Amino acid sequence: MCGIVGYIGTREAYPILLEGLYKLEYRGYDSAGLALLDSGVIQLIKGVGEISKLEEKVGGRKLTGCVGIAHSRWATHGRPSDGNAHPHSGCSENFVVVHNGIIENYQSLRSRLKEQGHRFSSETDTEVLAHLVEQYYDGDLLEAVQRAIEEVRGSYAIVVMSAYDPERLICARKHNPLIIGLGDGENMVASDLPAILSHTRRTYFLEDGEMAEVKANEVNVFNQQGERIEKEIFEVTWDAVAAEKGGYPHFMIKEIMEQPQAIRETLRGRIDAERGKVCLADDLHFSCQELKNYRKIWIVACGTAYHAGLVGKYLFEKLVRIPVEVDLASEFRYRDPMLDKDSLVIVISQSGETADTLAALRLAKTKGIKILAITNVVGSSVAREADEVLFTWAGPEIAVASTKAYITQLIALYLLAIYFAESRGMLEAGEEANYIKILQSLPEKINEILADTTAIEEVAAKISSWENAFFIGRNLDYAVAMEGSLKLKETSYIHAESYAAGELKHGALALITKGIPVFAVATQEEVFEKTVSNIKEIKARDAFVIAFTFQGKEELAEEVDQVFYLPCVSDFFAPVLSVVPLQLVSYYTAVKRGCSVDKPRNLAKSVTVE
Ligand code: M6R
Repeated sequence: MCGIVGYIGTREAYPILLEGLYKLEYRGYDSAGLALLDSGVIQLIKGVGEISKLEEKVGGRKLTGCVGIAHSRWATHGRPSDGNAHPHSGCSENFVVVHNGIIENYQSLRSRLKEQGHRFSSETDTEVLAHLVEQYYDGDLLEAVQRAIEEVRGSYAIVVMSAYDPERLICARKHNPLIIGLGDGENMVASDLPAILSHTRRTYFLEDGEMAEVKANEVNVFNQQGERIEKEIFEVTWDAVAAEKGGYPHFMIKEIMEQPQAIRETLRGRIDAERGKVCLADDLHFSCQELKNYRKIWIVACGTAYHAGLVGKYLFEKLVRIPVEVDLASEFRYRDPMLDKDSLVIVISQSGETADTLAALRLAKTKGIKILAITNVVGSSVAREADEVLFTWAGPEIAVASTKAYITQLIALYLLAIYFAESRGMLEAGEEANYIKILQSLPEKINEILADTTAIEEVAAKISSWENAFFIGRNLDYAVAMEGSLKLKETSYIHAESYAAGELKHGALALITKGIPVFAVATQEEVFEKTVSNIKEIKARDAFVIAFTFQGKEELAEEVDQVFYLPCVSDFFAPVLSVVPLQLVSYYTAVKRGCSVDKPRNLAKSVTVE
């Protein structure tokens, strides 16, 4: 999730590009850069750090040129560094490219281009695009870009500029958004609306497979076959703030809605559907012996990431039959944990900067224990200091309440558990292939849940006047109940408690009174009847019970006040689905109560103090 801005017209491009980059800062950044074209010469300035660092780098220099492209990077391939910042050039600076997305076959392309004499200066996947365009340029930039993208696999939104073709920018998209802003004697290209809204509200939204040549006075769009097509102009009516949120009122709901796509990104390149295999060879470097030797796994994290770890415990214990201890990082670091050499520590952190998680990682490291990190942020401290890293690729998460990061942490844990189980010979024939099919089906099933939120909104309205709520479940459902309860607390300020369903009668049942909301997650077949018994105990005290179970479990409707039916899936994968309505309940309750949804009081997105 990076930001792209391009300009071509009669005004100086630098201030327009810089303003556009600042408008896209909410997408996350770790480095930024721009390229300006003036009198047939391209000037390239880029570096690690925020947009303001780029501005400092330019300093008092007068940058001229009425054509330019700019980029704010959120690292995927290659750590944040000056060299890895965009724009990327070929061997010379005559061709420059900015790119969002991932080129999956970049390694083979890079090797081939190197053999052909191209010199690479970054670790990124993007750089191959610049070299490919350079290679294919034969007097027509559009054709060169066309040929280049025919060779790449993956996802991209790109803008290409060349010193040899100063009258136009060439852009293309596949699976990553790209918008063209139509001006008067000038045009713009951007990954997101906020970058162009102060200049124009007339836009073309490029579709997958489309390319465009953007000139100062003219824009031509082409389909995948290279034929010129007529595009409909979309007149943007959103204000600038709504545009940042893709038209949603809050980042939290935007990020909830992005979860299907986020899961696809986490899975991308890590499953071989044809062979029915999880492939983590590009991410992890464990030897077969190491994988076989581990006797214990520790999962250490904070908050929502800790809750993902609790799901991970069930996954590993069930599939790998290896004991897993899940610890809060703030406890782990101060209790002299008994770490043996044959233990593996998995730390989970969206930001990769949480102080307690980082301290726990460092503590385990001093004891010579191997650390595997699951994190969302390339270049974060956790990513840099861990021995092995599995990135979640959820894209920047802006809302304080974690949603898409959690769900992708779960997916990473499923992949890991399957990978470990397979390496240790724990899976039966066809089992891995079956898991892969299920993982691939999850985004669509989440889309089904997200398609209509009316009933969830009604529940949120009902519970919004309460100051207390309960969440219950057994096994995997208990782990999800804990996450549901944290979400409700932090977004709506309702005091919420989560309980293992069987544990309520050992004390907390005393708190169940008429009408109090109780969310019951009941997806686990083996303990379904037990959970229903617990629900009956609660209903007998007149609570308002909202249950979450699979389609086909219609009998539950008689026991509770409201049931949400989840699309059917093996109950081993239920957490990925059941958490979604809980996130939605929290969101709509917080909205109903007028809370500061994206920035709840007293909280910060990244807790870098202990
Ligand atoms: O960045 P991290 O995943 O390490 O953050 C851990 C917690 O601070 C975080 O999950 C927090 O609990 C969220 N606000 C939950 O929504």
